[in-house]
Amino acid sequence: MSVPKIDRTGQNTRMRATAWISIASLIGSAVFADAHLDIQKKGSKKAAVTDSVDPNANETPAHHEARMRWWREARFGMFIHWGLYAVPAGTYNGARTQNIGEWIMHDLKIPVSDYASLAAKFNPTEFNADEWVAIAKAAGMKYIVMTSKHHEGFAMFHTKVDAFNIYDGTPFKRDPIMEMSEACKKAGIKFGVYYSQAQDWHHAGGAAYGGHWDTAQDGDLHEYVKKVAAPQVKELLTKYKPAVLWWDTEVQMSKEDIKELTAAFPADPWLVANNRLGNGVPGDTETPEQFIPATGFPGRDWETCMTINDTWGYKSFDRNFKSTQTLLRNLIDIASKGGNYLLNVGPEPKGVIPTPEVDRLKQMGEWLDKNGDSIYGTSASPFKKLPFDGRCTVEGRKLYVNVFAWPESGLTLPGLKTKIRGAHVLATGKRLKLIKAADGTVTISKPAELDPISTAIEVDLAGKLEVDPQ
Ligand code: GLC
Repeated sequence: MSVPKIDRTGQNTRMRATAWISIASLIGSAVFADAHLDIQKKGSKKAAVTDSVDPNANETPAHHEARMRWWREARFGMFIHWGLYAVPAGTYNGARTQNIGEWIMHDLKIPVSDYASLAAKFNPTEFNADEWVAIAKAAGMKYIVMTSKHHEGFAMFHTKVDAFNIYDGTPFKRDPIMEMSEACKKAGIKFGVYYSQAQDWHHAGGAAYGGHWDTAQDGDLHEYVKKVAAPQVKELLTKYKPAVLWWDTEVQMSKEDIKELTAAFPADPWLVANNRLGNGVPGDTETPEQFIPATGFPGRDWETCMTINDTWGYKSFDRNFKSTQTLLRNLIDIASKGGNYLLNVGPEPKGVIPTPEVDRLKQMGEWLDKNGDSIYGTSASPFKKLPFDGRCTVEGRKLYVNVFAWPESGLTLPGLKTKIRGAHVLATGKRLKLIKAADGTVTISKPAELDPISTAIEVDLAGKLEVDPQ
């Protein structure tokens, strides 16, 4: 299955997005996997032709490496989907959306002015940026990416473009993007913004999968980009100075659109931007959504974004939360393939991150506190396949093995040529016996105590890592 494309009038040229989303959620992540790989492959193929609009086309490899450094070491970040959609929380006029919460306006075809009236009810008095950042930090997350404007078109920052924003248009009269960016700076954690650059169901000319449903949406996409998206992106980059700009939903953007949108890039030569801008601009990072690619993306930086339950924006009745074990094993799996995990929270309308999400994040942080060396700053596993249920990462002369199920006979690392100096349980420091076979194979003995999530082992190598090609 391929990803739907929207043309410049906002019409979907292949398939209705609602169908796309429902089918994808029914069939599961495999569909998303194919779909997004498809988009990514196309993105890389087109890159060479459109270099002229790629804002980083002339960057030196050395600068690229330096720019990506913190991001690569981070491995774990928090995605925050928060906007007007938190108010209906999945239910509008008695109708429940079957899809992800932030798409409610689209899925229930809510007229533009009716939807806009939700702003008067949005008063998240319990929002506290320091608390959110503390939750991310305690979870072991190293960066945050928050929606500054989702497809609904509502700005979560004090934009000068118009009053359809949380500062001018709600009783709240505060700027959460500014508060979050300041709280992150204080706490020493990177802050980034998500921005929907083409889909905008509120402003005239903005695109919509499947086409517009209200004449108020009609207009010209380039005019929209010029008058709304580009000025807002400029405000974000110059006033809020995010470390990450997370574009979303590729639309057939013209080169002129792209140039308008990236005009403010020179203001920050360190900005990290993903691959969803459009027109073949490769961006810095691949963005598999809701799945972990089997082999990662060798040669490319990548980040799996994923929900804790089944929605990005808050839905009061979505209780399908993944277990802490699943979430941590996902992170371990992703790190073993050289990627990052951007795990989403969907705060409630009052400004509180749902308790089941906070609980899981807290437990993840507890595990990472003891076992974080096996994740942060590591690179992908040198082994194609391990003969046990577990994952491996590397950092210099250290191999980290996260074991989900220990073989009674102990661990062997197939093809490892470098001598093993020693091995210990990361969380406890407990040394593990090394058993040498006549053929030189070394087996690491099973620890007495196992962690049900994953027992991380640090293997100290006597020299530079060398593994037989497998
Ligand atoms: C999709 C959805 C969107 C969500 C995003 C996160 O593209 O359109 O609602 O924000 O994925 O990756």
